[in-house]
Amino acid sequence: PAKKIAVIVGSLRKDSLNRKFAHEVIALAPPSLSFEIVEIGELPLYNEDLEGKDIVAPQAWTHFRQRLQEFDGVLFFTPEYNRSVPAALKNAIDVGSRPYGASVWSGKPAAIVSVSPSAVGGFGANHHLRQSMVFLDMPLLQQPEAYIGGAANLLGPDGKLNNDSTKQFLKKFIDTYATWVETNAKK
Ligand code: FNR
Repeated sequence: PAKKIAVIVGSLRKDSLNRKFAHEVIALAPPSLSFEIVEIGELPLYNEDLEGKDIVAPQAWTHFRQRLQEFDGVLFFTPEYNRSVPAALKNAIDVGSRPYGASVWSGKPAAIVSVSPSAVGGFGANHHLRQSMVFLDMPLLQQPEAYIGGAANLLGPDGKLNNDSTKQFLKKFIDTYATWVETNAKK
């Protein structure tokens, strides 16, 4: 059976470039992977006071954590906000990492695509996210690195990717990730 990959998009806006690229990458993927976008916009900000002994954690947190258990790997699409990861994405990572010792991220093979209209391609966000992945013990695809710069110009008026070299690159990226998942998934 196909390995199940959770896709997490770090932008909450409807017309997000990251979300559009997520759909493009999913469409290019081999059949050994299946994908579901897991939404992060409704997660309350992480606060240690909201869970613990005799406290019922916010339902959205519990639901998110349970949902993530089902997946074999995680594919992140992140915008860059002020040279780092958007707060919504960092919050989702923090929520999933707790309670201590029960992180949903641990051991799940991951990969990162950063997407930006700027030429730098979200390098700062991409690497800040990597920093968290190291601590969370996620086997993280190193190569190819995916920094999609000038992203608005790679999409046609229909919002679809219309640049052949980018398409070829993303195909290679997702094929390499599929092999990475086969090698590193827990089951
Ligand atoms: C940005 N943007 C941005 N872009 C970038 O390349 N480097 C950056 O540091 C920032 N900083 C930043 C901060 C904040 C608060 C916002 C709202 C935006 C621009 C950003 O790349 C652009 O809005 C993208 O379109 C966001 O991604 P989505 O929503 O299209 O996926």
